[in-house]
Amino acid sequence: MIQVAVMGYGTVGSGVVEVIEKNKEEINKKCGAGEAVNIKYILDLRDFPGDPYESKVIHDVEQILNDPEVKIICETMGGLKPAYDFTKRALMLGKSVCTSNKELVAAHGPELIRIAHENQCNYLFEASVGGGIPIIRPLNYSLTAEKIDAITGILNGTTNYILSRMEKEGADFADVLKDAQEKGYAERNPEADVEGYDACRKIAILSSLMCGKNVRYQDIYTEGITKITSTDFIYAHAMGKTIKLLALSREEKGKFYAMVAPFLISKSHPLYMVNDVFNAVCVHGNMLGDSMYYGRGAGKLPTASAVVSDVVDCARHIGKVIMCFWDGQDVALTGIGEASHRFFVRVSLENERKALEAFERASVIEADVPGEFAFVTEKMTEEEFNKRALEAGIISRIRLNE
Ligand code: NDP
Ligand code: HSE
Repeated sequence: MIQVAVMGYGTVGSGVVEVIEKNKEEINKKCGAGEAVNIKYILDLRDFPGDPYESKVIHDVEQILNDPEVKIICETMGGLKPAYDFTKRALMLGKSVCTSNKELVAAHGPELIRIAHENQCNYLFEASVGGGIPIIRPLNYSLTAEKIDAITGILNGTTNYILSRMEKEGADFADVLKDAQEKGYAERNPEADVEGYDACRKIAILSSLMCGKNVRYQDIYTEGITKITSTDFIYAHAMGKTIKLLALSREEKGKFYAMVAPFLISKSHPLYMVNDVFNAVCVHGNMLGDSMYYGRGAGKLPTASAVVSDVVDCARHIGKVIMCFWDGQDVALTGIGEASHRFFVRVSLENERKALEAFERASVIEADVPGEFAFVTEKMTEEEFNKRALEAGIISRIRLNE
């Protein structure tokens, strides 16, 4: 019997218990060597009277850490404190940890992986990016013959759900956010979703795996979706495009840059059809070319399924290290000023002339929005755009991803 403890019995943690219970036969078969997984403890702050697993709920982490039978821990509490301390102590005791906590992985990933390996156990984080989509394992195990030079993804379920419903139904931002919270998609503090911080941590994790070194999330330029309005979607439709919060990283001629921001994308873009809570990640390798990974990016059971896939991996590798190429050395990111795009720009009618002087060769967008003039610039660096925008009196701008 492989004894497992779950830390944090919320949306994802309760899903982990449900997945292990419902798919017991499948999971045990896949753990190999006739082993069966059993949940011995569930750590939470609260009691759960009437819950079928009530008797397993404990409140003292020492019970888990001091029990030599517990070999695998699922950390689904979230946040840095006390998750960092609990995880570190567990790994130092040789207990593997499987987590959905991208905040912790982005902040301390290389250190926790190193501690795990020094203690012949594993720190796995499939659920930390893209919810239920297998993306960490493909990067670690499958695309090992590739030099990956670009990753582009929709990495946040909540914001994709909000943008999809704003587009389709003209729904109000605040109402859809509330709905996403009720569905268990949003972070405890939804600012992390709507301001892009969550997608930023996820692209930091993927970028680190892409280059084998540490991409600090603090260095990634990040913009959320709070400034996107229904008027932006009127223009997007007029251009045959939609708006998505994209997270990207690129390696070009030895320079590495990453960013998170809303982008306009056209119907032919592989991420155009990724709607609602779905996420997708496009990975470009120098031999394979493009590959794409798609699925539910948030929610109880999809995320729990990814956590449990890590439990199975740990169960198959008790006492053995699973390779993960993520060194602690920080990558120097190239400043966002050097990145080039075309920009969609809105200005008030009175600024039309000024804007056209600042941006020659602009393509005008006709969308019947009263009192405004809108256009798409030619391709230019962010730095160049910002310089010209100062003279144009702009209302807003959205980058194009082409
Ligand atoms: P929840 O808030 O639903 O669950 C967290 C649980 O952990 C709560 O029951 C909370 O108790 C408990 N908890 C908090 N601190 C402690 C502590 N010190 N000791 C014991 N228990 C504690 O969050 P989610 O399940 O949504 O998210 C968990 C993690 O998974 C986060 O890192 C999140 O970012 C990540 N994630 C979430 C996804 C989702 O779709 N929800 C998808 C992918 C990743 P209490 O409520 O009493 O505070
Ligand atoms: N809040 C996150 C999202 C959860 O909406 O994508 C999944 O990481």
